[in-house]
Amino acid sequence: MEPSALMTSPLTVTVVCLKGGDARRARAFSIRYGFPLIDSIQPTLTDSIKSGCKTSCGLCYSAQGVELFSFENKSLGHGIRCDFSGGKNDHRRKYGGGKGQLIAKAVGVSSRSGLHVLDATAGLGGDAFVLASLGCKVRLLERSVIVHELLLSGLEQAASVGGADLLPVLDRMTLIHTDAKLWLAQQPSDSVDVVYLDPMFPRRDKTALVKKEMRYFHELVGSDEDSGELLRSAREKAIYRVVVKRASRSPWLDNLKPTYEMKGKSSRYDIYVNRSMSKKPGDLF
Ligand SMILES: C[S@@+](CC[C@H](N)C(=O)[O-])C[C@H]1O[C@@H](n2cnc3c(N)ncnc32)[C@H](O)[C@@H]1O
Repeated sequence: MEPSALMTSPLTVTVVCLKGGDARRARAFSIRYGFPLIDSIQPTLTDSIKSGCKTSCGLCYSAQGVELFSFENKSLGHGIRCDFSGGKNDHRRKYGGGKGQLIAKAVGVSSRSGLHVLDATAGLGGDAFVLASLGCKVRLLERSVIVHELLLSGLEQAASVGGADLLPVLDRMTLIHTDAKLWLAQQPSDSVDVVYLDPMFPRRDKTALVKKEMRYFHELVGSDEDSGELLRSAREKAIYRVVVKRASRSPWLDNLKPTYEMKGKSSRYDIYVNRSMSKKPGDLF
């Protein structure tokens, strides 16, 4: 697929290599997708801005992996990065409530072990990581080149610095850079147990921090206007069910009534059942 077909962001991005970052990889990424590169290695992000970054964002390669900073945010405090070996992902893996979590119930983790889940809107991989931590084999599809690069770097960093307990979880996660609609169109029917969707729009999270981060992320990937089409493709290919994550007061995706809903504090899962999980594919009753 042409890179342009996968790059929908209205943000402008410069690739920046900071001290300790992987300069070859930064250069390769900038050439492949046509982003400008600050190509002498910069000791700090502030130096790189001074040396002529005129874009709204910097995709920064450093010893900690790849991180996206908004140059419009003067403090430069919060970049977007994927961290699976620390922070909130790690905390949720250890103390998040295991199979009692709503996402686990919505996907049906307890009903079948080793479920093959397709996370067709991977984003920063948080939901996929929860499902992989609970034993699912998860294929993650992401179409934005920037988000894919952040996620790939997060998975690689976690594999190199994470503890032995993290490696089996990462082994259950496979990342593919593609548009899920195109990918699904090439699969035979009944090719995946569960398809999980968490498209971008709409969001009504309350806290200021979430709002700020989500606004920025929203600008990066757009509104996923084609998610109704994605839901229909997913329903054709899922063996058991399609699960759609929504903000609690959002309408059903594409006005399609789910088989049932599971409601949490801020989000809701709409579940479209194709077949009961107590039956095996091919069972008549
Ligand atoms: C709200 S985010 C998903 C967040 C994710 N559940 C998490 O836990 O981090 C939605 C993501 O889905 C991606 N996306 C939307 N439609 C897609 C499609 N048809 N194929 C691949 N990726 C898609 C967007 O680029 C965006 O990164």
